[in-house]
Amino acid sequence: MNDFLPHDVDCWQYLEHTAARVFALYGYREIRVPVVEKTDLFARSIGLATDIVEKEMYSFQDRNGDSLSLRPEGTAGVVRAALEQGMLHNAVHRLWYTGPMFRHERPQKGRYRQFHQIGLEAFGMAEAELDAEIIVLTATLWKELGIQDVNLQLNSLGTPESRGQYRDALVAFYEQHRASLDEDSLRRLETNPMRILDSKDKTVSQLNKEAPSILDHLDKESAEHLDRVQELLQSLDVDYHLNAGLVRGLDYYTRTVFEWTTDQLGAQSAICGGGRYDGLVETLGGKPTPAVGFGIGMERLIELMRLQSCCGEPEQPDVYIVQTGMDAASAAMQLADQLRGKGFRTLCNVGSTGFKSQLKRADRSGAAMAVILGEDEVRNNSATIKELSTGEQLSVSEDNLVEELRRRLQDLE
Ligand code: HAM
Repeated sequence: MNDFLPHDVDCWQYLEHTAARVFALYGYREIRVPVVEKTDLFARSIGLATDIVEKEMYSFQDRNGDSLSLRPEGTAGVVRAALEQGMLHNAVHRLWYTGPMFRHERPQKGRYRQFHQIGLEAFGMAEAELDAEIIVLTATLWKELGIQDVNLQLNSLGTPESRGQYRDALVAFYEQHRASLDEDSLRRLETNPMRILDSKDKTVSQLNKEAPSILDHLDKESAEHLDRVQELLQSLDVDYHLNAGLVRGLDYYTRTVFEWTTDQLGAQSAICGGGRYDGLVETLGGKPTPAVGFGIGMERLIELMRLQSCCGEPEQPDVYIVQTGMDAASAAMQLADQLRGKGFRTLCNVGSTGFKSQLKRADRSGAAMAVILGEDEVRNNSATIKELSTGEQLSVSEDNLVEELRRRLQDLE
């Protein structure tokens, strides 16, 4: 679990603002839901036989004896909220969210126990067009951020029925090759055999190359759905790689699943994962409601933004007010508020430090201009502007100060 210092937060805010802007372009509105939910909500949505529910949740009993958990992901809570608030009756909703998630995983680069996602969920649309639209949305976000070299992996997990048949075929295959399975895969063979396709074990990944492909076991509608998503992505110029081994770590998916990955972050290469989950609303007690969404791992995306110098420039102050003399102190505070009222980011020196050290502080603050108010200036209703990059100075009357500052700041842009 990490601390984020102001220097880090600049980049976080840049990502948050850019994502919020892109989400709004596609008609998404923000929803805020609690960080703690009943444990049962996650068990029922993510699946009992997943790593997350089996061994990664921060669960505890509250004073009533209820089992609660810190949310390991955002989808379950958003579905719960949408259901509880009666939002899902014959309505279409496009929602986005952001915040901390918690998984008790083995920490390493790009994998943390408190991490952050920014993601979205869309309810009420079963069509492949929506799957393609949210994928295009993510591609637009990468473009807006200036991120390059990310790859889209696409797959379909079919319906629960077709997946059941595939699962049987997979189990039959692995049973014939038990000797090649490591301990973890043998365990998964009993609980969640499709996760063996995700194994990092060398022998198992070799074996997986010969395993039956889910793409050969899709039902007709799911196969058509996948074809349509691909057609749309091609027509919208979004490159993708069809990867039958992409199974995702959560059980609620149906049909389309996708991940954006990069080669630049080491082992934890997925920066965004998502897909369709047409059965989840019903599982959680609602009417059948198609849904699709994704979550972006913000720590990983920010690491990639740093590597590719895409963090944007932090906003610096425009003006630092230097003041000498008792009368100047209150005049300086008044002037600072006037300038802030006009939209200038303004720092006003605090404390009775000498003139020289105030100018040093002005330089260090990153401000473009110092405005100097001495007792003479206060007496004459004037101020001295000092352009901090060049050292150039000029005296202006109070009436002309705002205009002169604005003109000079514009020239610097
Ligand atoms: P997920 O693939 O489990 O999906 O997580 C989404 C992203 O969160 C991952 O691609 C990764 O970037 C990031 N992430 C996951 N675990 C960690 C961790 N321990 N440390 C740092 N980053 C991490 C979901 O959570 C689904 N709720 C996504 C979704 C929304 N599907 C449909 N709607």
